[in-house]
Amino acid sequence: MFFVFLIANIHLIKSQNCYTFDEKIILGDYYSKIEGQTMVTLQYKSYEECQIYSQIDKLKLRFESIFIENLIYVYTTNIYQNQSLQFNKDYNIKLGQKSLILRLPLKNGNQPFSILNHFRDLQILIQNSSLRLETEKLDVSSVQIESIALIIINYCNISQIIQHLQINLDFWLVLIGDQNCKYQLQHLKYDTFISQQSNSQQITFLKGNKFKSNYKIEFQINNSSFLQLQYLHNDNLLQTELIQKSYLIQQNYGDNCDPYGQRISLGYYYTNYDKLDDIIDIAYNTQSYCPQGFLHIFDQNGIDQWIKIKEIRILNMSKVYENSNSTFTYVTYINIVSLNSYVIQRLGQIYYYEIYGAIDIKSKQYQFKVPLKQYDNKEHKIIFFGDMDSNWTGNKSKQTFDWFQSIQYNQSDYDILIFEGDMAYDLESLDCQQGDWWLRNMTTFTSYYPQLTTPGNHDSGQNYEFDFYRISFLTPEKSQYNTRQNYYNFYSVDLGLVHYVFYNPTRMVYNESNQQEIDEMVQIMENDLYQANQNRENVPWIIVNSHFPMYCSDAKDKQCSQNFIFLKPFAELFTKYRVAIYMSAHQHNYERDAPFINNQSQVNTGLITDGPEQHLVKNSAAPIYIVEGSAGQEYYTPLVPYESQPYTVFQTGYNDGVGIMTIHNSTHIYFEQIDLVTQQVVDYFWCIQERQTNTDKTINIILWTLLGFLILGILGIGIFYFIRRQKIKEQLLP
Ligand SMILES: *[C@@H]1O[C@H](CO)[C@@H](O)[C@H](O)[C@H]1NC(C)=O
Ligand SMILES: *[C@@H]1O[C@H](CO)[C@@H](O)[C@H](O)[C@H]1NC(C)=O
Ligand SMILES: *[C@@H]1O[C@H](CO)[C@@H](O)[C@H](O)[C@H]1NC(C)=O
Ligand SMILES: *[C@@H]1O[C@H](CO)[C@@H](O)[C@H](O)[C@H]1NC(C)=O
Ligand SMILES: *[C@@H]1O[C@H](CO)[C@@H](O)[C@H](O)[C@H]1NC(C)=O
Ligand SMILES: *[C@@H]1O[C@H](CO)[C@@H](O)[C@H](O)[C@H]1NC(C)=O
Ligand SMILES: *[C@@H]1O[C@H](CO)[C@@H](O)[C@H](O)[C@H]1NC(C)=O
Ligand SMILES: *[C@@H]1O[C@H](CO)[C@@H](O)[C@H](O)[C@H]1NC(C)=O
Ligand SMILES: *[C@@H]1O[C@H](CO)[C@@H](O)[C@H](O)[C@H]1NC(C)=O
Ligand SMILES: *[C@@H]1O[C@H](CO)[C@@H](O)[C@H](O)[C@H]1NC(C)=O
Ligand SMILES: *[C@@H]1O[C@H](CO)[C@@H](O)[C@H](O)[C@H]1NC(C)=O
Ligand SMILES: *[C@@H]1O[C@H](CO)[C@@H](O)[C@H](O)[C@H]1NC(C)=O
Repeated sequence: MFFVFLIANIHLIKSQNCYTFDEKIILGDYYSKIEGQTMVTLQYKSYEECQIYSQIDKLKLRFESIFIENLIYVYTTNIYQNQSLQFNKDYNIKLGQKSLILRLPLKNGNQPFSILNHFRDLQILIQNSSLRLETEKLDVSSVQIESIALIIINYCNISQIIQHLQINLDFWLVLIGDQNCKYQLQHLKYDTFISQQSNSQQITFLKGNKFKSNYKIEFQINNSSFLQLQYLHNDNLLQTELIQKSYLIQQNYGDNCDPYGQRISLGYYYTNYDKLDDIIDIAYNTQSYCPQGFLHIFDQNGIDQWIKIKEIRILNMSKVYENSNSTFTYVTYINIVSLNSYVIQRLGQIYYYEIYGAIDIKSKQYQFKVPLKQYDNKEHKIIFFGDMDSNWTGNKSKQTFDWFQSIQYNQSDYDILIFEGDMAYDLESLDCQQGDWWLRNMTTFTSYYPQLTTPGNHDSGQNYEFDFYRISFLTPEKSQYNTRQNYYNFYSVDLGLVHYVFYNPTRMVYNESNQQEIDEMVQIMENDLYQANQNRENVPWIIVNSHFPMYCSDAKDKQCSQNFIFLKPFAELFTKYRVAIYMSAHQHNYERDAPFINNQSQVNTGLITDGPEQHLVKNSAAPIYIVEGSAGQEYYTPLVPYESQPYTVFQTGYNDGVGIMTIHNSTHIYFEQIDLVTQQVVDYFWCIQERQTNTDKTINIILWTLLGFLILGILGIGIFYFIRRQKIKEQLLP
């Protein structure tokens, strides 16, 4: 059988009595080498029995129900050669309330023929066996066509070409198939298969589901092993690509393209660095180089796309340690897929995805919710955790993994996960197997919730250059601060009502940095906080994240008793810009510390230490300091609680725990620490910042000034009269 199907799907308009959809004009076998009698077939579908009034020009059409397919009625009628429709003439076809225009082309002629919607703006030319869609003539703003399908080609492994085309074009509008192959594409509405003996095809794509721009792609199957693709935009050549067919049909490009370690991160869209079209990034690892990997993403509202890998990073530890005494033999490939606004059309929505490490190696299906950048008057919840490995020997991190599995199972709604550093103990241990295990195990939560990280000392690697960490974990870094020489890992994002800042002061707290480096880092921090402070109206809260605590209670650990000295210039900024909470980890427990400034308790720290009010911190001049290091590690069990320090408010014991923060509104944040073994809340607090707008302040200043002048005035008058009376008295004296 030999057919050429041209299918224009018209936007659905719900008729009053009968809902029909998928109206099609399909070119018949008259145009094929079979030289059949059918010029075109008209078709529509409906969920109920539904004979709509139809006509071609003045002629009424009779539709018969040919079959019922998956509970859908499919109505078709044929127009035969003996009905003597003229070529190259426009015929109006009415199908209920919808209308199509048919123009039959001359067979083997090179005159244009058309299938137009009622805007008459879609034209298809046929020249021998090649087909061309003239998209220049398409007024994209007015077209309501949902999808256009051209189905041609006699190439059995077309699925792979299709996927390749989709991956290259980001958006899918053209189907190609071969009925002998019976390849079914999942999540696509139209699966139709035909074959054609031609070896040169041209296909036009409309790129982007909003029809923002038109792209055309032409491809030639030159010989049995090569396919040439040409990408055109308004007939201007954008790019040519020669594809080896063996590459397309190869089962395994590399030895092992199984994706592992899927992890979602927020893109630059959430920062203020002017790179807005990178909303979500997903990274996954493969053991081999697998450049044909891609991501299939879809939602409930019709997004269904194949996204090509944007970048492959090679982490070759043998190379990293080439000139050292360490002998590493570890290579992994980090595949990065970036989701822009074509894909993520609505924030706050759930998307489903599968990762194809290669064309035939698919992960299971995952889902995630895109966090909102702007607050939407709802509570937002964030999970904080730190110091966690994936070694389940002592069941410690297992408790946390189980809990993560449980919240995922319950589809609990958290915006993001914030990991405060120290993972795997250590990423580079056992020739990096430890890091590799960690990546595999943490998929449990990082495939479901976007994660933001900041590195800890155990993430620094044997060369202290954070190679494994920097290359593996995606965060919207200010890239110049995330190099081997300059690993501050500085970035900040806005989510809802909170500006989250992340920084890595490892060298400072180990007293290894020079003054210039510190000054530079402080400057970066100040610039960021200054900007955030200007934006308080929209984003009132600031929360700073680092692996290293400002205070903690283990008197033997310098990182507890000295950090406030090493980090003093930062602490000053946090006070100056009213950072609400400082989150850290490093100590393997949970601890809450009072808002000290320079190791001094403050009158106006807002902490009310008596009674239940211990759980309330109001209008504090300094941040509340949290150590969130109890997520679960087998490496070092703290002997907690430590002896209380002047700033210590609360410490936990041995069990694993995570912190959950609820952002209520611009004045109220609630935080609770959950013990993951007992499932109890072990500590909680409210952080309240009452905000005075600048105008209020100005008014206050004016009032006080006026009052001042008034008092001065009264005093002045009083003194004047007093002196005058004295003078009068003197004059009266004899
Ligand atoms: C036209 O051709 C079709 C198919 O060959 C046939 O079924 C039909 O009876 C013909 N109609 C007329 C009026 O000859
Ligand atoms: C179309 O076919 C005709 C006759 O078979 C041939 O002369 C002409 O060159 C072909 N045109 C193209 C564009 O291949
Ligand atoms: C299609 O691919 C399958 C396996 O992927 C292979 O066995 C078959 O030979 C291919 N067919 C063609 C026509 O290349
Ligand atoms: C493939 O064939 C087309 C048309 O026959 C030709 O224009 C093109 O240059 C060929 N490509 C290569 C890479 O040979
Ligand atoms: C197939 O086409 C490619 C690209 O045009 C060319 O390099 C190759 O030699 C051709 N192979 C054969 C067998 O013709
Ligand atoms: C990794 O690096 C080593 C040392 O430079 C090199 O010999 C090896 O080929 C590299 N492996 C890969 C897969 O790039
Ligand atoms: C390698 O080890 C030797 C002996 O322990 C030492 O002298 C040398 O400095 C080391 N080289 C490097 C690059 O660490
Ligand atoms: C999790 O990590 C452990 C080692 O701590 C490893 O044995 C196990 O295979 C990992 N699990 C997965 C699913 O990778
Ligand atoms: C870890 O949990 C398992 C199963 O719950 C238990 O059998 C084992 O004794 C636990 N190990 C430790 C070190 O607590
Ligand atoms: C998940 O839901 C179950 C059943 O409602 C509940 O018992 C469990 O505590 C929930 N887990 C978490 C972590 O919320
Ligand atoms: C897991 O932790 C235990 C200590 O609890 C340690 O003895 C063991 O070596 C660790 N295993 C790995 C693979 O890190
Ligand atoms: C903010 O949230 C807190 C806690 O839910 C509530 O008591 C308070 O009234 C809210 N404030 C505003 C202005 O909505």
